[in-house]
Amino acid sequence: MRADRLGHGLRLKVGLCLLLLVLAPARGASPGEAAIASAHPLATEAGFEVLRAGGNAFDAAVAVSAALAVVEPSSSGLGGGGFFLLRHADGRSGFLDARETSPAGARAELFLAADGRLDREKALNSALAAGIPGLPAALEHLAREHGRLPLSRSLAPAIRLAREGFAVDEKYRHLAQARLAVLRRDPEAARIFLEHGEVPKGGWVLRQPELSVVLERLASEGAGFFYRGAFAERMASEVRRLGGIWTAQDLASYRLREREPLLIRREGAVILTAPPPSAGGVALATGLAILERFRWRELSPTDRVHLLAETWRRVFRDRAAHLGDPDFVPVPLDLLSDPAYGAGLAASIRLDRASQSAWLPGGGEPVEGSDTTHFSIIDAEGNIAAVTQTINLPFGAGIVVPGTGILLNNEMDDFALAEGQGNAYGLVGTSPNAPAPGKRMVSSMTPTIVITGERTAALGTPGGSRIVSMVMLAVLDVLEGRSAAEVAARPRVHHQFLPDVLIAEEGAIEEPMLAELRRRGHRVAVESRRWGNLQIAIWDRSVGRLEAASDPRWAAEGAARVETVTDAEVKR
Ligand code: DON
Repeated sequence: MRADRLGHGLRLKVGLCLLLLVLAPARGASPGEAAIASAHPLATEAGFEVLRAGGNAFDAAVAVSAALAVVEPSSSGLGGGGFFLLRHADGRSGFLDARETSPAGARAELFLAADGRLDREKALNSALAAGIPGLPAALEHLAREHGRLPLSRSLAPAIRLAREGFAVDEKYRHLAQARLAVLRRDPEAARIFLEHGEVPKGGWVLRQPELSVVLERLASEGAGFFYRGAFAERMASEVRRLGGIWTAQDLASYRLREREPLLIRREGAVILTAPPPSAGGVALATGLAILERFRWRELSPTDRVHLLAETWRRVFRDRAAHLGDPDFVPVPLDLLSDPAYGAGLAASIRLDRASQSAWLPGGGEPVEGSDTTHFSIIDAEGNIAAVTQTINLPFGAGIVVPGTGILLNNEMDDFALAEGQGNAYGLVGTSPNAPAPGKRMVSSMTPTIVITGERTAALGTPGGSRIVSMVMLAVLDVLEGRSAAEVAARPRVHHQFLPDVLIAEEGAIEEPMLAELRRRGHRVAVESRRWGNLQIAIWDRSVGRLEAASDPRWAAEGAARVETVTDAEVKR
């Protein structure tokens, strides 16, 4: 980072001198206004409320994260985890790994049926599926180490939303429908999230009084009560009563990890992204190194899609072979992120013909699913938070710990539980991603910050394994100068090694490109469903302007906004 900061500082000085010469106001040093893009307008407003109260991007991140846990309970929550990529205005960066961990009693065999195959009910819809949550620890740490306001101030909007309730939107109804059978099975989940056992009607007000009490305790006591003492013991025993294996010791052993963000350099830009146990940043590093060998900017649209498929085939294969929790297994990060390694993989790619996953070591055959949430914040001073958080599938395991309003995650499915059998996203893994006590399961979540000569972008998205390809497409778009709205709207394509299919959103691949890709040997499937929910904020430092965009696939009015926050400077 240091060389970068110096380079950045130099550019800044030269830029400022030039500006002074033309007697323009000194732009570029800080945006002067703030941008927030999240999956829900009420969460975005929670962030602005905290900025108006004198908070910085990190206080706002606490507010947005906690508000999302309330207003988008399908996607993330106190019972889940996430990755927080942070960059301070002075150039310091950080990464909070609040990924869930495996309870000590978990073994892959617990998730297998009598015939040795993965029992998807156990891996996805049972209390066994729940990892030990990381989000409460992250919120406290973020406020204490990076924020300016007390945790209680930043959590106030979430507490209010949980207590007073809010009208559910179409997305909530859609996801509740998708998980209706599972939600109905758990009396607490059905009581809180359904209306008389049915998907609530539009406008129905979701109130979560139990959750508001837990958030109030978090606000007044910090995260300690969640991990140790009577509350933790009660949660663990309830989870065991529901068929899970949590112990009080599992909760007491949970540790938030602070990691170095993964740093990638490309075309003079610096990209900060998620390190392992995220598989996304590594894939981005190897992937961009592969593309570099092909003069990406000069390729035809068909060649681009072909090359992306060939690239993702290879980086997802490496994921299956090598990725695991770096605290437990050696992840060959230096190798995988070395441009020379990318060049080696590039040498195995022909532009006129597709390879096949079956030709690569580890290639056999295995499906997918959908929910998680991302938000991006840039404050008036230039502090940045890019955060992706999750409970895995919509409404997690669909089970609420009684008396807490907290949904259990089903993140254990992100471990490689059964050899050769894909998880909910069709991802296959191997021994590096086998469960072990206290171990983190590999994730696709990839919050990312891109810093070019002129612009700084914070971005990310949900979408399971497709997060990895979506983030890479977004990074390429930012490097090519596209606007936030363009990046969020762009049609998407994806490949993940297994299954060996190039999938495309409707409109992403039309004839004659489709015919040409098939001629080259790709199996192409066009899906009617659109995927992802990308949230992006861009600060154009050359003109001193902020942009924010929410993915138009789900965007609600007010989810992405830029505002002048006048109080921030005064109250500092
Ligand atoms: O961490 C992961 O990779 C998954 N649990 C994320 C799940 C997800 O993005 C679902 N969203 N549509």
